[in-house]
Amino acid sequence: MDESYNLTDYERALIRAEARWPRAKRLEHTGIPRRFWDKTWDDYEKLPETARMRAALIAYTDGFMDSDPRMHGGRGFLLQGVPGLGKTLAAAIVGVTLSDQGFLVRFTTMAGYMDLVTRQFTLQQSWAKYENIDAHEEWMTNDDALRVMRKTAHLLIIDDVGKEHHTASKFAVDSFDSLVRHRYDLGRPVAMTTNVAPDDWLFKYSEAMESFIKESCYVYEAENTDGD
Ligand SMILES: Nc1ncnc2c1ncn2[C@@H]1O[C@H](COP(=O)(O)OP(=O)(O)OP(=O)(O)O)[C@@H](O)[C@H]1O
Ligand SMILES: [Mg+2]
Repeated sequence: MDESYNLTDYERALIRAEARWPRAKRLEHTGIPRRFWDKTWDDYEKLPETARMRAALIAYTDGFMDSDPRMHGGRGFLLQGVPGLGKTLAAAIVGVTLSDQGFLVRFTTMAGYMDLVTRQFTLQQSWAKYENIDAHEEWMTNDDALRVMRKTAHLLIIDDVGKEHHTASKFAVDSFDSLVRHRYDLGRPVAMTTNVAPDDWLFKYSEAMESFIKESCYVYEAENTDGD
């Protein structure tokens, strides 16, 4: 685990400490919803719609750090497709499996991430204008959590990308852009799920972002294969 790029001594210690925690405490910290903690690929039915995705994700997980300190060269995955086909379940199984192997994993929804970033902005204003010490403390706690998501975690899972797009501020959007680029540079993959067609959610980012996501993620579709 400690072969990962660009980690400070503090981050290495943090990774080792979390890996030694009792399983429930560790998984709680990943942010993976509790209902997924005991799920494995054995629970993941082999449906025709997701067979390719399932096989690819098993291989992806098995080879997560195969002698490459830049996990898969920093390439994550984007699971896209219609609702209810097990994208979140699949991403969560990858997260639980890697966490159980000692990797540092974080799971958030896109809306949750955006809320946190927006909240930081508000807290910063409150501190700057009114020297509100409580705001400053909350900011520091959030800042630690954000740093782990942006940099330290071996895998960051962002669930439900695209659903946030009506409320996200420009500030939050820029933050998402820099999040995925920064992690890719560090060789730390981002995994995403979405049921919004990429053409519909990427437009609000940029064309550069769209091609960047396709370059930095393996894209797997969960699709109805009826008609194929
Ligand atoms: N292949 C599967 N095997 C077993 N359970 C599955 C499978 N696919 C989906 N499920 C179950 O169906 C439900 C919906 O799955 P999930 O939430 O992962 O779908 P999703 O693709 O993320 O949907 P959305 O696009 O709405 O977020 C969950 O209860 C999940 O456990
Ligand atoms: Mg989902």
